[in-house]
Amino acid sequence: MELQVPSLPVLLSSFLVLLIIIRRVFSSKPKHVGPEFPTPSRLPFIGSIHHLIGKLPHHALRDLARKHGNVMKLRLGQVDQIIFSSREGAQQVLKAQDANFAFRPEFTAAKIIAYGQSDIAFSNGEYWRQLRKICVMELLGAKRVKSFVSLRKEQVGRLMSDVSNAAAIGKPVNLGERLNELTNSIVVQASFGRRCQQQKKFMETIKEVIKMASGFSVGDLFPSLQVVDVLTGFSTQLKKYHKKLDAILDATIKEHQMTRDGGEEEEDLIDVLLRLKDEGNLEVPITFDNIKAVVIDMFAGGTETTANTIEWAMSELMLRPSTLQRAQKEVREAMKDKGYIEETDVPQFTYLRGVVKETLRLHPPFPLLFPRVGQETTEVLGYTIPAGSRLLINVWSLGRDPRYWKDADSFKPERFEEGVNREFKGNDFEFLPFGAGRRMCAGMTFGLTTLELTLSKFLFHFDWAFPKGVQAEDIDMSESFGASASRKVNLLLVPSLRYPFPTLD
Ligand code: HEM
Repeated sequence: MELQVPSLPVLLSSFLVLLIIIRRVFSSKPKHVGPEFPTPSRLPFIGSIHHLIGKLPHHALRDLARKHGNVMKLRLGQVDQIIFSSREGAQQVLKAQDANFAFRPEFTAAKIIAYGQSDIAFSNGEYWRQLRKICVMELLGAKRVKSFVSLRKEQVGRLMSDVSNAAAIGKPVNLGERLNELTNSIVVQASFGRRCQQQKKFMETIKEVIKMASGFSVGDLFPSLQVVDVLTGFSTQLKKYHKKLDAILDATIKEHQMTRDGGEEEEDLIDVLLRLKDEGNLEVPITFDNIKAVVIDMFAGGTETTANTIEWAMSELMLRPSTLQRAQKEVREAMKDKGYIEETDVPQFTYLRGVVKETLRLHPPFPLLFPRVGQETTEVLGYTIPAGSRLLINVWSLGRDPRYWKDADSFKPERFEEGVNREFKGNDFEFLPFGAGRRMCAGMTFGLTTLELTLSKFLFHFDWAFPKGVQAEDIDMSESFGASASRKVNLLLVPSLRYPFPTLD
């Protein structure tokens, strides 16, 4: 019998089939354990993006979770996102398996603006761990926050006297605008010092940057189409802004280097970072670019968040006169003899604390926290989460979930007095406005101190009314789409002075 030699095409195709079999058998992909993820329907190319069109992302994701479950996978463009919408899921990702999920994915805007993601919020690994330590020990810890007491007193006092001037002529105050100016001034002076020449220029530029950076990057959803960000001008525009910011920050650092004399004045945040850089005791040395990235974080994380929360609190109170009266009664009864409020008075206002908690429950400034990326393949609630998966936690939906909150959509600060002993410190996983675990907000004390002081002074010194012709039912409570969940329409209120300030306030 003659042996037939196979032809070349037959040889090639046999070889290919063999290759496929070998790949299947020895695939490096982890074996799938547990159930498949529920996945909303997909369209070619865009994946599930159509489910998000026309709605705010956290609203759309809550609606999808109601249909598909507390853990679901969405393909957004070319990127898979796993969305968690239960407290058990949040607990697993943010706490139980924190070490695996305390990483951020890459983002075009963060890479361009924050010096290759070398800020606190978007860096990773050993470098991030060190920045986080610097934050806790030096930049945003209780001691440093306390050292800015006179800065807050001055800036909040200035706002109160502007409001008082408006009250004298019955003029409405645009709360959103004024509160953003307040938090910007506090963060800029805490970072740059009180006498720095660059403040105004920096504030104008960073406002533009934050607006732009919260826009849509095609490259983040379609990594193979990063060129689109160049073609649309998105990357170019961001680079232009970055250059402007960089020049201002360079000048500021030079100014600091020239005037650092170890004098009496409190260290500002740039002083602290320069000192740590020069001392040279850091495990991972930091550069001037790293310092600049950290300063940018203070603005991105610390201004709108605080201002928006105060504006939401005032909006909710104005819609519920009895709640407003109760909050005013608390501060007025406690402070009427003294006639003004200092930071040390604030902890006694327990109802006011409930107002703040209730505001953050219903209006967390970052409704989906910041995205996480898993390092190793692991299992969460029975689902296999492959290494490299991107995760989002819908804390906005957790805060409004009737499984966890009675009368979930109502603003009721008294729920925190009636046995609902929940805190936002990262242990109650249905209430996570600051996140939880090792990537929890680094500026909580800084933010809350300004927030509670300003709100208590608003309630103590002024009565508030809607402008002429506006009724409670006209107030639009919808949110805008942006870096943080702010009001779509700024709140305008007419103040009338109830308790004048003594000159020292
Ligand atoms: C009402 C005020 C604030 C709220 C509700 C808030 C909320 C948050 C949230 C939800 C995160 C992400 C947590 C996560 O991914 O798990 C975060 C991160 C962060 N926040 Fe805040 N924030 C506030 C104020 C501030 C202030 C005043 C600063 C600084 C001056 C600040 C600095 C930061 C930083 C640096 C991070 C990144 C932490 C990291 O990735 O390690 N925040 N914040």
